[in-house]
Amino acid sequence: MDAGKNNQSTRGSWGSRIGFILAAAGSAIGLGSIWKFPYMVAKNGGGIFLVLFLIISATLGVALMTAEMTIGSLAQRGAVGAYERLGGKRWKIIGYLSVFCAFILLSFYSVVGGWTIAYFFKFMQGSLATSNAKELTHIFETFVANPVEPLFYHALFMAATACVIIAGIQKGIERGCKYLMTMLFLLVLVLIGRVMTLPGAINGIVLFLQPDFSKVTSAMLIDVTGLAFFSMSIGMAIMIAYGSYAGKDIPIHRTALNVVCLTVGISFLCGLMILPAITVFGIDPQAGPGLTFISMPAIFEQMAGGTFFGLLFFFLLFIAALSSSVSLLEPVTGFFVDEYNTSRTKTTIIVSILMFIVGIGASLSFGIWKDYTLFGKNLFDLLDFSSSNLMMPVSAIAASLLVGWKIWPVFAKRLAGNGNPLWLRLMKPFFRYIAPAVIAIILFQGLQ
Ligand code: PFF
Repeated sequence: MDAGKNNQSTRGSWGSRIGFILAAAGSAIGLGSIWKFPYMVAKNGGGIFLVLFLIISATLGVALMTAEMTIGSLAQRGAVGAYERLGGKRWKIIGYLSVFCAFILLSFYSVVGGWTIAYFFKFMQGSLATSNAKELTHIFETFVANPVEPLFYHALFMAATACVIIAGIQKGIERGCKYLMTMLFLLVLVLIGRVMTLPGAINGIVLFLQPDFSKVTSAMLIDVTGLAFFSMSIGMAIMIAYGSYAGKDIPIHRTALNVVCLTVGISFLCGLMILPAITVFGIDPQAGPGLTFISMPAIFEQMAGGTFFGLLFFFLLFIAALSSSVSLLEPVTGFFVDEYNTSRTKTTIIVSILMFIVGIGASLSFGIWKDYTLFGKNLFDLLDFSSSNLMMPVSAIAASLLVGWKIWPVFAKRLAGNGNPLWLRLMKPFFRYIAPAVIAIILFQGLQ
């Protein structure tokens, strides 16, 4: 992405297809797979949620990621410019919506990003050395309810994100991610191995894999769709920006498929790591956003070298979160720089401070602002719901309609040249009718 930004005149500047995949996977793989997916699965009754997540990822996920990347590649512009160039002036609004959504999302994402830093330090101090679920729940709840401590880490996370943007080292982060994400993947495998050998782990696997159809409600459907979009960074126009640096020789649909597979694969493994842990240690499956932070220390406590693995895990989680948060800050900063010609450094600082301020409310909603709710949701949940479950689906509908109705011939040509393979023929009605209708139905059902 960095390369592209620095070379506006020579867009199409991913050094290689693997660079493109890494950047997109860096954005996609983050807290969504490791923190959000496991607690959503636990909250929504396990297996059936997983099945629906897989179906939505394989259909809407792959199709919409392909659509967004192709829109970017055809327009050679970021979100706002791409919608305008391909759709006309009125479509610009979808670009604005994406920028606004990125702003909202990062303001609460950074709060959780801060927790990863805090837990790294807690491991260092040895204050998490217990596998008692009650104690770990108490430690987590006391920490997040504290009105000051999490804000300090939220500020640290936001500052780290801003530093990456200001120093222009996104590319470095992406390259580093190749090794760090491989390490994270291996570590997750080791942790799965450890947790599986604990007595009672099988119950967690059953919970994870066995579908319970009675759990399917409209609220759950909107949760699973929102999570799929959140995890794959879809509906945020970020994949449009990444696609805008993709040259003509890059096969976009295969790239999108790779990124979706990587993200879903990591989510699945994280489920296999966390759900058995909650049954083994008797952790409440409804623990919500605390689930990863409560269950992981319990696993480390049961391992030789647990402190080392704990430090490594939270460090890698921080890096995964950082590579996603950078992809969220960049388009917001880029928007002001492009539209209003502001200084990049100053804009990054101001936008980060504003995100920090909005995030304060999200952080306090785990403590002293817990009881302030709107539509039954505290501020953290409201920011999460409005961005993942409302704005991202709306923007995904727009991308789908743009591809299906406005730019189909160029879209089809970009993907398959002069050929007309079956998968492409199927995609046309999918983008025109099926995807917008399915997302719209889920959206409206979920709002009732
Ligand atoms: N996909 C990221 C994650 O799962 O942590 C979060 C995210 C990044 C969402 C970028 C949306 C986005 F545009």
